[in-house]
Amino acid sequence: MYKTMLPVMLAALALVAAPANAADVAAGKALAEGSCADCHGDDGAGDDDYPAIAGLSVEKFTKAMQEYQDGTRTKNPKMIKEAKKLSAAQIADLSAYYAKLK
Ligand code: HEC
Repeated sequence: MYKTMLPVMLAALALVAAPANAADVAAGKALAEGSCADCHGDDGAGDDDYPAIAGLSVEKFTKAMQEYQDGTRTKNPKMIKEAKKLSAAQIADLSAYYAKLK
């Protein structure tokens, strides 16, 4: 039993561990286009109502998203809702993508 289960368990572990790998810029771009561009613009440049997020460092971006998630930043309920939908891996992908934009 244990012998036959081992490969299955290892395969499952590899799947679970995958999102923890290096940030995926392409995945971040896809997420950004689907969820963030409506407000922050296609290129993250923002406008009068929404802040520019293009070119934010990975550190600043990640900190901001964590603060929306943990309730430190309370200014905008819609932004809080957006942040709470995201996993840590998705935030890493998004931060890698936006950090590359200028
Ligand atoms: C419904 C509109 C809306 C959507 C959709 C939205 N945001 Fe925002 N976002 C805002 C607003 C408004 C603020 C400014 C709120 C504040 O001052 O705390 C903001 C702030 C931010 C900030 C902080 C910027 C800074 O310099 O402090 C980041 C980072 C951010 N958004 C990322 C994202 C990402 C990533 C997505 C997509 C997953 C997203 N936003 C989707 C409206 C939106």
